[in-house]
Amino acid sequence: MEAQERAAERKAACRALLEQVRSIEAEARGAFPGPALRDALLDFADRHRALLPDDDFELPRAHGRMHALSDGLDTPYGLYIHVARPGKEAEPHCHGLWSVGVGLAGREVNRFWRVTEQSSATRARVEETHSITLAPGTGMVMSEHDLHSTFVLEGGEARILNLFARPFEQFPRVVFYHPKWGTRRALPQASGRTLRGD
Ligand SMILES: [Fe+2]
Repeated sequence: MEAQERAAERKAACRALLEQVRSIEAEARGAFPGPALRDALLDFADRHRALLPDDDFELPRAHGRMHALSDGLDTPYGLYIHVARPGKEAEPHCHGLWSVGVGLAGREVNRFWRVTEQSSATRARVEETHSITLAPGTGMVMSEHDLHSTFVLEGGEARILNLFARPFEQFPRVVFYHPKWGTRRALPQASGRTLRGD
């Protein structure tokens, strides 16, 4: 398939997915329909993997990079392909909005954490609760309150299809926690852009 034709098909498929996401949310009437959102993305990745070839989504020179699929689609959501090199890691953090991740290639370990004690805006204790390794055919959901940390395993870059409740430009302040030091740190409002990595 020609690149131009593929881009057009991809755009149509993404638009249909985001419309499906909107109706899943509407049917949930305010509840968080996590499993249904995850299943919708898993199904999308399964049916449309050929529209998401590695060559269309470059590797970052280091760490990770987000390629936007939702730009220009008139949607409240943010849909991205995250490409990250082995060794890329992130300390426990909370995005402050819901998200879904589905593995397309490679393996990214996601550890989940809970806050056990928060004594001030800058001091908090967290403990690990469980982990999920994203790989092709695996998905995960996070509510707006969930914390995760990430680490990309050896064996090739990780490619993850990520859906967020909002695009990066509209992210609330992402909050990072340091388990060893018991610290809590809210990034500046605009750092959603930085997280995008392009
Ligand atoms: Fe994250």
